Amino acid sequence: MKILVSGGAGYIGSITAELLLQQGHGVTVVDNLSRGHRSAVPAKARFIEEDIRNLERMKGILEEFAIECVMHFSAASLVGESMRDPGEYFGNNVVGVIRLLEAMARTQARRFIFSSTAATYGEPARVPITEDEPVRPTNPYGESKAMCERVLAWYEAIHGIRYAALRYFNAAGASPAHGEDHDPETHLIPLALAAAAGKRRELAIFGRDYPTPDGTCIRDYIHVLDLAAAHALALEKLGGVGERVFNLGNGNGYSVLEVVRSVERVTGRAVPTRDEPRRPGDPARLVASAARARAVLGWEPRHGELDSIIRDAWLWQQRYPNGYGD
Ligand code: UFG
Repeated sequence: MKILVSGGAGYIGSITAELLLQQGHGVTVVDNLSRGHRSAVPAKARFIEEDIRNLERMKGILEEFAIECVMHFSAASLVGESMRDPGEYFGNNVVGVIRLLEAMARTQARRFIFSSTAATYGEPARVPITEDEPVRPTNPYGESKAMCERVLAWYEAIHGIRYAALRYFNAAGASPAHGEDHDPETHLIPLALAAAAGKRRELAIFGRDYPTPDGTCIRDYIHVLDLAAAHALALEKLGGVGERVFNLGNGNGYSVLEVVRSVERVTGRAVPTRDEPRRPGDPARLVASAARARAVLGWEPRHGELDSIIRDAWLWQQRYPNGYGD
């Protein structure tokens, strides 16, 4: 299939593009490189530096390369940042999706796979979280993605653009060639690894007074290769299944302190920490039920062990100490 990967110079987009190429698909990456890295784009992918909000240009790209499916990764995706700068999240994420769908509606492209998030649920009433849990985001990032999901349903109803919204829990890990390189880095695992490596003095622990057994937030860490595999399965199933929204997580929750201990086990080094107040917008506990993705997509995460997810991230950090180096 001819697939356009928006945000294919980013962390999850580049790794999914790599998998799609291995599976024999034709991949065109569009990325404005505002946060992505040119050298993260797999060599066999066509690369176009463009902003997805440029409707006329996107329409031209979809037509010229006879794109059948769009996998949409490009978005601002930081909970903390969204609490300081909501305009970036509504302007970039929501407007970006609308422009991309408008461009698709004017061409032959009729399949859309959307990077959504566990942040759509806010503070869930029940854990593990199923897709039936109410959507009640506690930050503009989650809100922006929830809005996009509703927009997608209308474009399917009106223009016949079939979609799947994949609600990722906490993406982590790396492939041998591609990993996580954000500037600034705000994610727990790369920061804990950097502290273990001595590249940072210490790791901040954001809040020890959450209603969890050790007082720190609990998250469901899912290997980025398992996320990529779910995209490929969603693409296969898109024509035939009734469900649109899928949680992607392992179903295991780990606290911030458990992640720190795992990093110490994997690296064999100490992670110095300091306590900080809660980070605004952070829910206490996000753990997925991915039963629907397993049943409907036939998805089976292969990297359930936290230590093995962290080991892959560590290997990548060691192999590429300066990340993508740009
Ligand atoms: N944390 C720290 N110290 C740090 C960084 C993070 O204690 O230096 C804590 C956070 O407070 C949170 C946990 O570690 O409790 C995980 O934080 P991350 O920043 O790694 O990830 P988030 O859970 O905030 O968000 C991530 C993605 C979102 C996605 C969400 C879904 O960034 O895009 O997972 O759960 F929506």
